[in-house]
Amino acid sequence: MSQAKQNAAHAALELVEDGMTLGLGSGSTAELFIALLGKQIRQGMSLRGVPTSEATADCARQHNVPLIEPDKVDRIHLTVDGADEVDPEFNLIKGGGACLLREKIIAHASDRMAVIVDASKMKKNLGAFPLPVEVDPFGMALTAEKILLALQESKCRGTDTTLRQNKAGTGPLITDGGHYILDCKCELIPDPAQTAQLLSQIPGVMEHGLFIGLAAYVIVGAPDHAKIMEIKAA
Ligand code: 5RP
Repeated sequence: MSQAKQNAAHAALELVEDGMTLGLGSGSTAELFIALLGKQIRQGMSLRGVPTSEATADCARQHNVPLIEPDKVDRIHLTVDGADEVDPEFNLIKGGGACLLREKIIAHASDRMAVIVDASKMKKNLGAFPLPVEVDPFGMALTAEKILLALQESKCRGTDTTLRQNKAGTGPLITDGGHYILDCKCELIPDPAQTAQLLSQIPGVMEHGLFIGLAAYVIVGAPDHAKIMEIKAA
């Protein structure tokens, strides 16, 4: 695992306080953070986590991080999660690990979201990473057509959708929520907020991987340090 991701995960501990309920993101960087939380708990801190995927729940159990179901929490103080791309306004592409629906539910319900990434994820514009869109399997081809229209209307380049396959190569990947993922080639998303809005209006779209205005902090790890950036107040 890269030292840059490790440094970003470690720096996120600066935002963690005793007694917090934390949203636990998904992916390799988030799992590094969960391992560090386990260490904090062993040293006496009282923390509990709301997992954003089954894989994250497994990871938390492995590190003895107490879990609480989303419906049983009255407040999530902070969510710490990775991302696939981050732009200068802290807009994100997420969903490389197919957990975007639960990740967005938890990030949206949190007081604050901190994103932990290595410097390769920082981009001037979003879109080089294919945009994951979680869709209901019912009428998926119809939904895919509407997605293409939304991408064209919001002037994304190179529109094309691919149904994500599972790791075993035996069929479509099924998300924790029982949906499919369409990876949408965009190349460039000139107006992420507009694209997000258009995608959200399509009935078969369960959620899309554009996280607009959710991240309060972006923590960028480098091989020898990490930098914490906070969004400027509007
Ligand atoms: C999962 C995600 C991940 O946070 C994203 O893919 C980054 O993963 P990693 O930390 O392994 O680079 O959005 O749905």
